[in-house]
Amino acid sequence: MLPEFQTILSRFQRSVGASVFMTNSASVPEKLTVIVTGASAGIGRLICQRLARKQHRLVLAARSADKLAELQSELEASGCECISVPTDVADPNGLEALVKATVDRFGRIDVLVNNAGIECFSEFDQLPLDQILQTIETNLTGAIVLTRQVVPIMRKQGFGRIINMASAAGKHGPAFGAVYGATKAGLIAFTQGLRGELLPAGITATAICPGFATGGAVYDDIINATGKGTPTLMGGTTAENVAAAVEKAIRTGQPEMILNFPALRPVFLFRDVFPRLGEKLILAFTFRFFRRAASAKK
Ligand SMILES: NC(=O)c1ccc[n+]([C@@H]2O[C@H](COP(=O)([O-])OP(=O)(O)OC[C@H]3O[C@@H](n4cnc5c(N)ncnc54)[C@H](OP(=O)(O)O)[C@@H]3O)[C@@H](O)[C@H]2O)c1
Repeated sequence: MLPEFQTILSRFQRSVGASVFMTNSASVPEKLTVIVTGASAGIGRLICQRLARKQHRLVLAARSADKLAELQSELEASGCECISVPTDVADPNGLEALVKATVDRFGRIDVLVNNAGIECFSEFDQLPLDQILQTIETNLTGAIVLTRQVVPIMRKQGFGRIINMASAAGKHGPAFGAVYGATKAGLIAFTQGLRGELLPAGITATAICPGFATGGAVYDDIINATGKGTPTLMGGTTAENVAAAVEKAIRTGQPEMILNFPALRPVFLFRDVFPRLGEKLILAFTFRFFRRAASAKK
């Protein structure tokens, strides 16, 4: 770095408070203890398989005990140390038990992947109240409550990674997916707030925002239900790409990753600068697809 630039930067840091610029200074342990919620299927399962190859210690959480046990056997056979803890993320007592089981077995928690989630594409006023509440509790409240229990442990360690599985739907609420989009937008804001507060403690938070992901995740059900994929210009990603992004986020601790091809960040930037035109553009490419997804689920 040029010496003049360094001087200007350190003056700026002093004037606004150095802690704002602090990133994680603790070194990343080689073998991480990782909790993955929603581990029994789809993206969560792929995340576990990928992290197991790096010999990290895994804690598999989801409601389906049988699927977790099956995954545990598979991962243990490959030499990975892991436990499965059947958990409903919408139940705060269950989350406490998940954290206790992790600390009892491994003594620390390095990474929390808040991946469990459900979607609910429907006409907004046709969505039953219990489904609205369940979506919020699973996708947002569960992640917040679990993170609240994990952060004090990470603070003591001086190191932690919180990875929140948001969605491109959190960057622009989809038609017929307003509630789902709201939970994912909530996760993105939650991530940003956590970073602001926890970076000086050596804890990072990352929001992962995939577009529709093919290859073994919930999007496959939507394709089967509608009989069609996403429009070409809306594109998507793969479940494998999303799992790879989680591994990268653990390494880098970066703030946000939007995973889609074609790239969506320029689209959201355009929408921010030209809100009405941007909204028209987004609706032109997505409205019919989301309406089809909503009516296919009736
Ligand atoms: N697939 C996509 O295109 C896409 C795009 C953007 C974002 N995402 C997000 O990525 C995450 C994973 O999605 P996916 O496609 O892999 O979905 P999936 O195949 O349906 O898997 C969802 C996982 O969440 C678990 N889960 C659901 N409710 C739960 C609860 N109350 N408590 C604990 N676990 C619960 C499920 O396990 P049990 O049923 O056994 O509990 C399952 O393991 C979600 O947060 C989703 O919103 C997905």
